[in-house]
Amino acid sequence: MPRHLLEIDDLTPAEISLVLDYAQNPASQQLRGKGAALLFEKPSNRTRNSMEMAIMQLGGHPVTIRPDEVGLGKRESTGDIARTLSCYHAVIGARVFDHATVKELADYATVPVINMLSDSAHPLQALADLLTIQQEFGEFEGIKIAYVGDSNNVARSLAIASGMVGMNFRVASPEGYEFSDSDIKRIQRTGTEILQTRDPNEAVEGVDVIYTDVWTSMGQENEREGRLKDFSAFTVTDDLLQKANNKNIFMHCLPAHPGEEATREVLDGRSSRIWKQAENRMHSARGLLMFLLTEGTE
Ligand code: CP
Ligand code: NVA
Repeated sequence: MPRHLLEIDDLTPAEISLVLDYAQNPASQQLRGKGAALLFEKPSNRTRNSMEMAIMQLGGHPVTIRPDEVGLGKRESTGDIARTLSCYHAVIGARVFDHATVKELADYATVPVINMLSDSAHPLQALADLLTIQQEFGEFEGIKIAYVGDSNNVARSLAIASGMVGMNFRVASPEGYEFSDSDIKRIQRTGTEILQTRDPNEAVEGVDVIYTDVWTSMGQENEREGRLKDFSAFTVTDDLLQKANNKNIFMHCLPAHPGEEATREVLDGRSSRIWKQAENRMHSARGLLMFLLTEGTE
């Protein structure tokens, strides 16, 4: 049975550590002569480019596919598409709206399926974030991370990942944009304490890492006006960073909307590690592929 990565806790903490090691080792040629299908229901800059380059570095050939090209769930069922792509490719990546779609692909595929972002999870981003934090601090144990903004797909995967590696996670979101009770339980199952607050100042007090993401995710565009109002007190500013540990770093998965979730000064400032994070998308994707192709069968 192939191993899949639909959410970050499909890996164990030891496996995450292995993926991060692979990410920092030279590329193998494990995909030589093989294909990798990358299916996108939503736009992408980092994910498409980092995955294509990681596949190329491993000797493989990426085939990027838009849903209208295969008619996902319309011209052909999602399951039949997964079975067909498994005939040609050693791995399938999918960026989808409904998390159930990536699950369905995994149910039918005979090769590993990687969630390249769904409405509920972004495990590839969490791996790049962990790699960036590990490179910065050398370890995870005791590192405090505060996420300020929408408790969205990126925040959920980051929170679970943080708990799995022993970081302390805090989240500040406005009313109505918090993690659900089941999210909190899932995060707590990793063994971490999670502080959920409506006050960004409380969340960032003394932390090592401040993280944010867009207020309006892909697919929520019709909520944008309301969200701009609801999140207006949640912009990450230089003043907010002052409340953190003086060696703090600022992270953002990107794309950014300067002046909304973070100011341009913060995005370009001394604490910012956003370009390192973007670069690490490629290294961590390569590490994950090496892991799945080497050890990823059950
Ligand atoms: N962070 C991230 O996933 O970026 P893209 O949406 O551009 O792929
Ligand atoms: N939360 C954002 C992340 C983009 C990488 C979205 O889903 O649009």
